[in-house]
Amino acid sequence: MSISKVMVIGAGQMGSGIAQVCAQSGYEVLLYDVSDISLDNGMARIENQINRSVVKGKISGQDAKETLKRLQPASGLDAVKSCDIAIEAVVENMEVKKKLFTDLDEMAPAHAVLATNTSSLPITEIAAATERPSQVIGMHFMNPVPVMQLVEIIRGLQTSDQTYEAVKGMAERLGKISVQVNDNPGFAANRILMPMINEAIYAVYEGVTSPEDIDNVMKLGMNHPMGPLTLADFIGLDTCLYIMEVLHDGLGDSKYRPCPLLRKYVKAGWLGRKSGRGFYSYQ
Ligand code: CAA
Ligand code: NAD
Repeated sequence: MSISKVMVIGAGQMGSGIAQVCAQSGYEVLLYDVSDISLDNGMARIENQINRSVVKGKISGQDAKETLKRLQPASGLDAVKSCDIAIEAVVENMEVKKKLFTDLDEMAPAHAVLATNTSSLPITEIAAATERPSQVIGMHFMNPVPVMQLVEIIRGLQTSDQTYEAVKGMAERLGKISVQVNDNPGFAANRILMPMINEAIYAVYEGVTSPEDIDNVMKLGMNHPMGPLTLADFIGLDTCLYIMEVLHDGLGDSKYRPCPLLRKYVKAGWLGRKSGRGFYSYQ
């Protein structure tokens, strides 16, 4: 199956990054968001990133122009009818994703693949909301998408070989390295990363030391590029909480219980960088 036109749904930090790398790799791209403000911000973020690449001398002005021409905002979900693949990057909530996949299934052409960038939710359950479970797959990019090399590819129970091969080929064309992971809660990346972040939050909650020094321990002591609390703010504390809940519910082990401080911050609207406040302030 050949993929030439992509629709990305959700223009937040992940969706805009995915749309950017797709356009840069020669795909025609439509970007859609339920919020006009998010769509405008996502389009502006991409333009800004591409213009910065010109200033840095990484791409020519002509390349930038052609890349931006391949990327268009979509005013409705039905624009998927002209696409070969939809990549969903909306909020990490099963009910929202299932409703979206049911709608996409009704509107997308019969050959189209429906991929989800979910961080942790079961692909098999999302696929069951459609009449084409063999064409539903997890395509889990890492943040920031233009920089990180990895894509986890997750097959649901009924994902076909053809769908897997098409998505693996697309990840290669995007310049990414893929790993195939089974459909378990949190897949591989967040099964390992998120308990570390949650433990760092427990360390703050229990007064072990300050957020700054917890980050220093992991940055200076373990050579992590960002400390776990800076990384949590970068990912989004709402997303971190959703993922911990999926691990806790899905694996049924108390070691995955989300830290009460994480819950408190999310309830307060402290979502990290995207809201201006998390473990640190971004005003
Ligand atoms: N979008 C696009 N490009 C970005 C970027 C962004 N948000 N942030 C940084 N970059 C680019 C910069 O432009 C720069 O590019 P050049 O080399 O071309 O100049 C390059 O990345 C390095 O940036 P900086 O020098 O400004 O900063 P840095 O060296 O500290 O790197 C970082 C920034 C790449 C984000 C680095 O701190 C890092 O790797 N952090 C950890 C990120 C991580 O762990 N990601 C995974 C999160 S978990 C996940 O994604 C899964 C999930 O489901 C939650
Ligand atoms: P975000 O909050 O930055 O963006 C989500 C966007 O989805 C918002 O713009 C919102 O308006 C839009 N949206 C919500 N419901 C929608 C709907 N029904 N239709 C269309 N748009 C809708 O979130 P994000 O960080 O970009 O995360 C998006 C997805 O990617 C989540 O599933 C998350 O788990 C996953 N993910 C996140 C990261 C990360 O580091 N943040 C990394 C990998 C995967």
